[in-house]
Amino acid sequence: MTSFVITVDGPAASGKGTIASALGEAYGLPVLDSGLLYRAVGVLLERAGGDLDDPAAAAAQARALTPDALSDPAFRTRRAGEAASRVAVHAPVRAALLALQRSFAAQAGGAVLDGRDMGTVIAPEAPAKLYVTASPEVRAQRRHRQLEAQGEGVSLADVLADIRLRDERDGGRAASPMRPADDAVLLDTSEMTIEQAADAARRIVEAARAGRA
Ligand code: DC
Repeated sequence: MTSFVITVDGPAASGKGTIASALGEAYGLPVLDSGLLYRAVGVLLERAGGDLDDPAAAAAQARALTPDALSDPAFRTRRAGEAASRVAVHAPVRAALLALQRSFAAQAGGAVLDGRDMGTVIAPEAPAKLYVTASPEVRAQRRHRQLEAQGEGVSLADVLADIRLRDERDGGRAASPMRPADDAVLLDTSEMTIEQAADAARRIVEAARAGRA
């Protein structure tokens, strides 16, 4: 297969991470979890005593980020998600993370890109684009299970409130990153198991590959 880029965008806990991994495995492609970049910037800035709402400080942290610094489990916590969504609203932070994401997308063979603006900003030329959604209630249940498995005790109601706040912050403004690309295929996973969602995603990619041949 020649270079093939698949973008998987969608709101928090929509299942896009699981789908991106399944696609990476199915097609032997490396997967970029772009949310992790924003999480790392938020957590590292907080640790350094910086202000998450200061665009210049957050952008400096983003410019200093190196891919080898992404394995810290602290980036997977609820607090990290909250910090990520605060630094992600700053345009200079998004600009600072652009080159790293574009070079990941441009590697020989292709890549699967998981995020909010993969199909619109990072790889608008990608031949296969998915926009994964699920209802806020279903997403809250999934995120709640995930946090519990990580040992974070938090109520379902609090997780649902987080999800609603995150949707508002990620998608509530004119310049928000969260919107489907015009040529993205919508995949609503509310009623699907992980296996069903991964199968549906593969079918969408197969259709895109067939259309391109
Ligand atoms: O997908 P996630 O929960 O790891 O993302 C964490 C936050 O990072 C999310 O609230 C929005 C932001 N984000 C973004 O703005 N653009 C991306 N490409 C990925 C994540």
